[in-house]
Amino acid sequence: MNDISLKNLAQNLDLTNPPEGFVDDPFPFYDALLEYAPILRQPDGSVLLSRHADLDAIYRNTTLYSSDKEAAFGPKFGVGSPLFEHHTTSLVFSDPPLHTRVRKIMTSALTPRAIARMEPGLIETVDVLLDDMEGKAQVDLIEDFASTIPIQIIGNLLDVPMDERAPLRDWSLAILGALEPALTDTQLEIGHSAVCEFKAYLQDLVARRRAKPGDPEIDVLTRLIRGEGADEKLSEIELLQNCIFILNAGHETTTNLIGNGLALLNDHPAQRKRLLDNPDLIASTVEEVLRFRSPNQFGNRETTAEVEIGGHLIVKGTNLHLCIGAANRDPEVFPDPTRFDITRKPNRHLAFAGGPHVCVGLTLARLEGRVALGRLLNRFPDCQVQGPRVRGGRIRFHGYASLPAVL
Ligand code: HEM
Repeated sequence: MNDISLKNLAQNLDLTNPPEGFVDDPFPFYDALLEYAPILRQPDGSVLLSRHADLDAIYRNTTLYSSDKEAAFGPKFGVGSPLFEHHTTSLVFSDPPLHTRVRKIMTSALTPRAIARMEPGLIETVDVLLDDMEGKAQVDLIEDFASTIPIQIIGNLLDVPMDERAPLRDWSLAILGALEPALTDTQLEIGHSAVCEFKAYLQDLVARRRAKPGDPEIDVLTRLIRGEGADEKLSEIELLQNCIFILNAGHETTTNLIGNGLALLNDHPAQRKRLLDNPDLIASTVEEVLRFRSPNQFGNRETTAEVEIGGHLIVKGTNLHLCIGAANRDPEVFPDPTRFDITRKPNRHLAFAGGPHVCVGLTLARLEGRVALGRLLNRFPDCQVQGPRVRGGRIRFHGYASLPAVL
């Protein structure tokens, strides 16, 4: 594509009706946005932002940029509907003082001790999956590996009984899928049902945990029920919806981190060899995967007053789409940004956002990434992606639905 058509595409990009090729491979479009339209008005009045400096400043400022979505989700989901109740009660879509109170309980529940306790179980989960894949003529790195790990880990975190974990993945996909910019009636219906079923399940789990509490030092659900670390407990609805949120927040994102990492190392054999020769590079490899193919490509904020960004006046109440995927390849911050470099330092990516809403699970996600990628490569150094890859088909969450491989 020549520069003129790229410029034209960037200046007319509409997230609710993306151009052909954007969903599967948005990166050339992001580069064009950074160059030609880093502050782009959308047909519905919202604004799409791509520069690292703009996103970084917005993430840090919860006074001018609100995370509350009551106004946006009313028309989208229907006020009072299951998806509306879920998403507007989630930590991520709230502002201080509610956000400060709930976040305090969440961060104090995900203690370093609770996360450290995860590591042996994580290694065991990963090794069992590797054992199960060994000897198979072909495997699917998503179905057989990447998607199973976070479900087990978050399941362990909240101590969800093993034989009750099967529906978690589909509930989670349906609820987060409802955050896509454009939705069909069927997607909406599936999302509402998933919230209802998930909530009913958690009501029962919470009742069982209240009757028989776990060790509050390490059991995250028991800590959330007790409201450890805060003066005030979570209400029943806050507790249930935020448990759903933790399960969802840590699932598709981490699946995508592992799947995108495996695909990138497959597609960059020299980088893979470098990692195999220097296993200590695993931590910076995970950071580069997070930068280069961020599992979560977009965030959103709403302006609480008129603001000026890059010379553009933006009125109060405007919905901002924060393109993390573009900011992470901003040449102002990352030298040679289109190069996948597992030794990149510094690497100030925004994959976990920033400021007061920075991801609560980032330590756990990084641990999962390191253990999953490191142990798979160590066990199967010649693993090759082979066969048709299926992309996730979403704009916000970037990953694969299927990644066939021979080990
Ligand atoms: C690679 C994996 C992950 C990625 C890329 C990721 C990304 C993000 C991002 C971008 C945000 C900020 C959203 C915003 O404010 O607009 C966020 C928030 C959050 N994440 Fe993660 N996440 C990951 C894994 C996890 C895990 C494993 C957990 C739970 C154990 C988790 C729990 C949360 C929570 C509770 C928030 C809300 C924080 C707040 O609003 O104060 N995440 N995550």
